[in-house]
Amino acid sequence: MVELMTRIGRSVSWRSRRVVREIRNGVRGHLINRRSEEADVEPRITYPCYKSLDEYIDVERLKSLDGYLKRKVESYLNSGQCPEFHTGLLKQKLLTRARPGSKLIPLTVSKRPYKYLDLDKPDLWKPSEDASNFSELMDFIDTLPFKATARIIIMADDKGRAVTAHRDHANTDVRHEFVWFRTNLDKPFSLRDIKSKKKVDVKSYSAWFDTVNQFHGSDSTGQLAISIRVDGIFSDEFRAQMPIPEYNPASTAALWACLSS
Ligand SMILES: [Fe+2]
Repeated sequence: MVELMTRIGRSVSWRSRRVVREIRNGVRGHLINRRSEEADVEPRITYPCYKSLDEYIDVERLKSLDGYLKRKVESYLNSGQCPEFHTGLLKQKLLTRARPGSKLIPLTVSKRPYKYLDLDKPDLWKPSEDASNFSELMDFIDTLPFKATARIIIMADDKGRAVTAHRDHANTDVRHEFVWFRTNLDKPFSLRDIKSKKKVDVKSYSAWFDTVNQFHGSDSTGQLAISIRVDGIFSDEFRAQMPIPEYNPASTAALWACLSS
């Protein structure tokens, strides 16, 4: 009985600490979000928005990977070994979950202890042990408009739970170059304006979007949901096509989106 009570006590205390930590992080993130409402962005930009990259990638080849990817990902999820996705501090709503239940399958791993801002530094990344099990996907990634790639992750949830709306970081001087894509349109992914809370659904198979000056997340479906994100350095030819904002480099994808539509 004493041992049982000790175990319960430890469990309650661990849960309490976790709840306190979550609340403290939520408040910190909320205060950072409030400051970010004042970040300067070009008047040519209207949030929420995203830049579809479908015209720059082989969408038919991507769609053809759908069954293959679902089978592979389901077997990984069933193994119970996949790390959990965490939104970071900058959630849209204070009392939402930073760990909404999605899992990650990393196809590259950092050569040094992981730091978020390393995600676009190709020299710091190498293929993970799992990359060879996704060779068809890796071959497709080779066709994307990158000079070099860095972090590559599959994000998946076999229960199709909502992904808490969040921002990836708050540094408006940092432009992360990445391609977000999916083999089907099942995952209801969206961008949301910080001030108005207005929401726009992504309708394309692939996108580049501003992860700093707006929120992103997805609604629940109850069905298997999969997306892939590849970070790195875009090719010179690809970079030459994008407009460059006069300030707030993190808003480059948003400016391109708004000037394209
Ligand atoms: Fe994110």
